[in-house]
Amino acid sequence: MNSKLPQVGTTIFTVMSRMAAEHGAINLSQGYPDFDCPPRLRELVAERLNGGCNQYPPMAGILPLRERIAEKVASYYGYEPNPETEITVTSGATEAIFDAVQAVVHPGDEVIVFDPAFDCYEPAVQLAGGRAVHLPLSLPDYRIDWDRLARAISDKTRLIIINSPHNPCGSVLEATDLDRLAELIEGRGIFVLSDEVYEHMVYDGRGHVSVAGHEALRGRSFSVFSFGKTYHATGWKLACCVAPPALTEELRKVHQFVTFTSSSFVQYAIADYMAECPEHALELPGFYQRKRDLFCELLAPSRFRFTPSAGTYFQLVDYAEISALGDQAFANWLTKEVGVAAIPLSPVYREPPGARHIRFCFCKEDKTLERAAEILCRL
Ligand SMILES: Cc1ncc(COP(=O)(O)O)c(C=O)c1O
Repeated sequence: MNSKLPQVGTTIFTVMSRMAAEHGAINLSQGYPDFDCPPRLRELVAERLNGGCNQYPPMAGILPLRERIAEKVASYYGYEPNPETEITVTSGATEAIFDAVQAVVHPGDEVIVFDPAFDCYEPAVQLAGGRAVHLPLSLPDYRIDWDRLARAISDKTRLIIINSPHNPCGSVLEATDLDRLAELIEGRGIFVLSDEVYEHMVYDGRGHVSVAGHEALRGRSFSVFSFGKTYHATGWKLACCVAPPALTEELRKVHQFVTFTSSSFVQYAIADYMAECPEHALELPGFYQRKRDLFCELLAPSRFRFTPSAGTYFQLVDYAEISALGDQAFANWLTKEVGVAAIPLSPVYREPPGARHIRFCFCKEDKTLERAAEILCRL
């Protein structure tokens, strides 16, 4: 078989979760909560399911949900996108990212991604006939090297994919970073795909800066948000993309033939919940910052070294004092022999960053974090 994606295997997130289940390890690998989504939200889903919301919703998503998204983007980021022409509901951020890449990348185009890079970016680029250009994020805190980006931009560059808050590194972009990006692409036919699925998980009093709120960038950018992350319901695979009308039009041409639309009753229930409980998103940074602090406190006596994560629900740790193994071998050993599963970073970068890092996920019940930390502190 002449594969179109010869280098693609099963994603590392699935591999490590499966290994955790096989070996009975505490699963701090794949990013999903081990607690349920809000009870009121589940009630609303049941009400909408039993209330007849079970047929094809509009291709772009139900209007009430797009209206709630517009209000939310306006209140958080200071720009109100038009629900008719600038917002599309998709089946997960993964679909929005795929659609956006297919919409703008032509065969032979280059797409710049920053390593470590979430693993759905490059296959989408390859299927569009493009070429991913990998630029490493710079240690110690995995930031974009803007000078290196300036040198990497060429006449072939069509798209730059950014991700803040960053999975797996937990770094966040500042307003000045977005200014720099805008300067670098000004006057060139380059688009931006901004993966912002962890928008409500930014800590220590810093706010998330969205490309959707950036005057110079928003006219040429796709901003992607995920309800799965915000509402502790990753299994529902519901997300959205905010982009200017011309880009939205192209994105929808792809969306309508990839999924056409997404689960009707879930869309209605989330629209209801956003109207009824706007405080959910407001409380999220505090909710997860407390979990980050607890996990970091519990891990402080261990031989892992780390700087508390600035965003996301992931914590990178350096294990160099514990082992000289490569990160995949260390994560396998940790899962199979020690009983705590983590994600190695090497499957998501090309050039080793020069640190021995693995990623733990802390969107877990306190007791799960306590049990895991107790084991990790014995190493
Ligand atoms: C950085 C990043 N982008 C996109 C996604 C995909 O989100 P969704 O589950 O909404 O497709 C994830 C999920 O883990 C992620 O971490």
